[in-house]
Order: sequence, then C-alpha cells, then structure tokens
Amino acid sequence: MRPTVAPFPSTRLRRLRRTPALRALTRENTLTPDDLIWPVFVMEGTDRADPVASMPGVSRLTIDRVVLAAREAADLGIPAICLFPYVDPALKTQGCEEAWDAGNLSNRAIRAIKAAVPDIAVMTDVALDPYNINGHDGIVEDGIILNDETVAALVKMALAQAAAGADILGPSDMMDGRIGAMRNALEAAGHKDIVILSYSAKYASAFYGPFRDAVGASGALKGDKKTYQMDPANSDEAMRLIERDLMEGADMVMVKPGMPYLDICRRVKDTFAVPTYAYQVSGEYAMIAGAAQNGWIDGEKAMMESLIAFKRAGCDGILTYFAPAAAKLMRG
Ligand code: PBG
Repeated sequence: MRPTVAPFPSTRLRRLRRTPALRALTRENTLTPDDLIWPVFVMEGTDRADPVASMPGVSRLTIDRVVLAAREAADLGIPAICLFPYVDPALKTQGCEEAWDAGNLSNRAIRAIKAAVPDIAVMTDVALDPYNINGHDGIVEDGIILNDETVAALVKMALAQAAAGADILGPSDMMDGRIGAMRNALEAAGHKDIVILSYSAKYASAFYGPFRDAVGASGALKGDKKTYQMDPANSDEAMRLIERDLMEGADMVMVKPGMPYLDICRRVKDTFAVPTYAYQVSGEYAMIAGAAQNGWIDGEKAMMESLIAFKRAGCDGILTYFAPAAAKLMRG
C-alpha cells in the first residue's frame, strides 16, 4: 500500500512534526526495556570487573558481579541477560571438552543467576570457540571445521546449559543440522520448554573484533570463519537458513551483526513473521562508544537512534551492550 499524499499545500507533512506532542502521537515505532537482551562477559574470580579496552564502558565480570548485573537488569525491566565466558587459556583443547562440563564457568554463572534473580531469562552461547585451542566455533581437523562432530559436541553443551537452568539457548556456531539435533536431544532429556534463539543468519564479519578480545579468542583464532559464517554479499541465503532453522525447531531467530544488515531483518520479518532479533555486535558498539568518548558524536542520542532502527526494521528485540544504559535512559 502506498501512503497517500495530496498535493501541496493540502498536504504539509511538517504539520505533524511541529510539536513534541504531535510527534509523539504520530510516532510509528517505540523502544522499551522489554526489547533488550544484555550480553555480558563472565570471568573467574570474585568481586572484580576488568574493562575491555576495545569496548569503552564494558567490563568482564566475576560471577558475583554478574549476579549483581542481572539484578540491576531485572530492576530496569530488561527481560534477558546473555552470558559469554572468558575461558582460561589452559582449559582450551582440540576437543573442546570444557564446553559441556557441568561445572564450567558459564554453567556456574547460570546457576548463580537463576538462584539469585529467578525472574530474569538467562540466555547462553552455544559454540565451541571459547573452549577451542583453534579459536573456531567448530572442531578442527587438518584445518577443516568438522560439521557433524561439532554438532555432537554442541548437543552435549546445550544439554549441560539446560541442566544448569538456562532459559534460552543461543547456538551461534553456524554448523548445519545443529538446531534439529539440539531440539531432539532437549525433548528426549525432558527439557521441553527450553527456548532456542538461533543465530540463523550470522555473517563472517569484521565487526566481531572487540568481542574476540573480550573473550580472549583473538589470539587463538587461526584463519577466518568464512566456511561456516555467511558471505556479507548474500541475502537469499539468509532466508534459506532462517527457514531451515525454523523447520528444525528454533523458537526465535537472529540476524547478526545488526546495523549493516537491517535489510535482512526486514526481509526475515516480512517473510516469516516469527520472533526476530538482531545482535548489535561489539564492533557496532565500539564505533558508537568510541566516537562518543572522543566527543565526535552525542553517545546517548546515537545509541537510541541505533536501537530504534532495529524496531523500524521489524525486529522484536535487540542484543546490545547498551542495554543497561538505554534502559536507564528510557526510565528517566
Ligand atoms: C562466537 C560468537 C561471536 C560473537 C558472539 N558469539 C564471535 C564470532 O563469531 O567470532 C560476536 C558478538 C559480538 O561481536 O559482539 N560464537
């Protein structure tokens, strides 16, 4: 449907922009704390926060501090927090066995949050990179990322996270067949209500750089992730990936990164009409936070403008490191 525009001066589009009241009345999209998922970095230790140099304003937190962060998020009305572990390099192996250890850092953090702040949804990362001596999301043999062996490992990882109390599993690995394998295993194990938010359309992106610093994967990564993450030039392929993941049992789907891929978000929402999320990734955060730190842009305004863009593009929610700052601003 085309919007109707009578000729000037019958139509003066500025009439509806004249005052804050008229602008509020005609605003098409809104952002609330309900739209936010807050990604946080967890590390070993107690009562410490280590700033991530490439992400001004973001720190890695010890589990006790992550629990405080979860409390703060819940109080701000943020419905979910997403955990990314900074894993001791000594625990990284070829087989990534630490990934499904019931007592690993991430699983201990899940238990601690669910015990102290049961009302917040805890989301996890299902991928092997923090545990992999190669820094890849999959098991590597002779330089090849093995798909099916990786899926088997991811299933064990997903079951351990579900047992620890995770509400939402976030497979970010881009292997084929992992959603179906996880869904079957969850059903068989009695975890019938665990939500899968699939990183369905995840691109091989330079915007993940600061994240890899934050989780200590930059040094480990050999080569790139182009044999499993998507080519930034592709759009139809994203539709095939989304449909495939939905057919295999994903409850929610994600496009990642966010801002450079808003066209994909819109296409996903229009095509499938399912719960659709975008990840405003570390590099996007760094661009805004870094420029703001230098006084080159107004950080708060740029943050809010970037977040409403996701709503306009059709997203139901956004994973963003700005979550607490944005929620505070929205709550005045
Ligand atoms: C890896 C993973 C990555 C991110 C989330 N999970 C990085 C990668 O694929 O290399 C990136 C998030 C960000 O940049 O904020 N499983």
